[in-house]
Amino acid sequence: KKTDNQMLVIFGASGDLTARKLIPALFNLYVAKQLPENFIVLGASRSDMSDEEFRNRVVYDSPYLKSKIEDLKENYLKGFTNMFFYEDLGSDYTAEYSGLAKRIEALNASKGTDSNYIFYFSTPPSLYEPIAKNLAEVGLNNQELGWKRLIVEKPFGYSLETAKNLNKGLQQYFKESQIYRIDHYLGKETVQNLLVTRFSNSIFEPLWNRNYIHHVEITNAESVGVEKRGGYYDKSGALRDMFQNHLMQIVSLVVMEPPIGNEPEEIRNEKVKALKSLRIMRDEQTLFGNTIRAQYVASEINGESVKGYREEDGVNSDSTTETYAAIKFYVDNWRWHGVPFYVRTAKRMPTKVTEVIIHFKTPHHQIFSDSGLNSKDNKLIIRIQPDEGILMKFGVKVPGQGFKVERANLDFYYSSLAETYVMEAYERLLLDAMQGDATLYARADEVEAAWEFVDPILDYWKNGKDVRMYGYAAGVWGPENADELIEDFGYWRNPGEN
Ligand code: BG6
Repeated sequence: KKTDNQMLVIFGASGDLTARKLIPALFNLYVAKQLPENFIVLGASRSDMSDEEFRNRVVYDSPYLKSKIEDLKENYLKGFTNMFFYEDLGSDYTAEYSGLAKRIEALNASKGTDSNYIFYFSTPPSLYEPIAKNLAEVGLNNQELGWKRLIVEKPFGYSLETAKNLNKGLQQYFKESQIYRIDHYLGKETVQNLLVTRFSNSIFEPLWNRNYIHHVEITNAESVGVEKRGGYYDKSGALRDMFQNHLMQIVSLVVMEPPIGNEPEEIRNEKVKALKSLRIMRDEQTLFGNTIRAQYVASEINGESVKGYREEDGVNSDSTTETYAAIKFYVDNWRWHGVPFYVRTAKRMPTKVTEVIIHFKTPHHQIFSDSGLNSKDNKLIIRIQPDEGILMKFGVKVPGQGFKVERANLDFYYSSLAETYVMEAYERLLLDAMQGDATLYARADEVEAAWEFVDPILDYWKNGKDVRMYGYAAGVWGPENADELIEDFGYWRNPGEN
């Protein structure tokens, strides 16, 4: 695909995300020769910095580039560093942008970026709309001379209502087709591979429905706690931080119908339809029986003591923010009627892992049923991370007399495709936006559909009468009560254990 000459303007350029994700992604694209001939980055934020200082900060002094640039020739590195410029927005993102517009104009003229601009919003979300408004006021949404795109970081709203307001707010100044909402999970190869596994093979899709699938389980576990983000996290929680966005994206790819083609809108239409078919839980009894939240409490992991959530910096000592969420739900459509979905996400688990497990039904007529294992053990496990790959579990005969069945594995590892270079999520997504491909970005209606489902759970957890907050020791697989949620149909697959 062609990548036009362009300028990337990053709002929030002195922030953590820019240094940690965006610059390394750009660096990889530079090394892979994926950047267009004329390409520059204009960082903008409230810090007072010269171009030179910005370059030092994001390249030479960056801990995130250190290992990548160590052995590079100075000339080569200069080629990268010289792409960076910086504009001080003064004390306020919301003050008008005529200075910024002039700077953009001048750089555009001298660097040949053809009036194609991406504006990357890496600021607190409360600034998204004011920034969009300010850009529009100085004509920077005008596409007569070159295209203009926004990339917006999560969170997209704090609730259904705020998400709708945010979408409406941005759409006053930019068309939906100009807005790219980034969800870095969609940049992961294995998440994209869900589509390919399903729709490029004839052996899975015929089974991908209520006739053959018993239940679906999705686990997203992190071993870290809230790290240095206690202040942010305490206002967010597992449901907002991970579930509403990343996990709902995965759910939509598992649930969706086959799109008629691979054009962005065809795929996104199907994802929206999938999200709209999730059965929204509204009454307290349903919410009580199908949602579990918990917080980690102080414990020891590998002999090292770790703080409980409420003791973390920036977290309220009587916080009711969940660091663990497990939700059981159903999908109301022809394909999935009656198939339960179990989805959990948490911090401070024994390990970092994300996987989707398709549990197939037991054969209707079992002739080897007394062998200890049955075909309920037919599972398709899609390992999103780490050890990216696909694992299929099925029964085989134990050699010898009789018909004893044992579980065997067919296991594919992405790493065995050794010479293939796998782009990191931000790298892939940035390049897509630079090329105008929105397939892996969330559309407004998608985000809103996900909120429709999540909002009542959040509301119940905040205002419900009978809500519980469980505790779990840091380093274990969540509270025992979460086992009750899945009990009817089995048990959680704790990777490494079963
Ligand atoms: C982010 C969340 O969106 O995703 C973090 O805000 C979380 O809390 C992170 O740690 C997980 O991403 P990954 O790619 O490491 O699974």
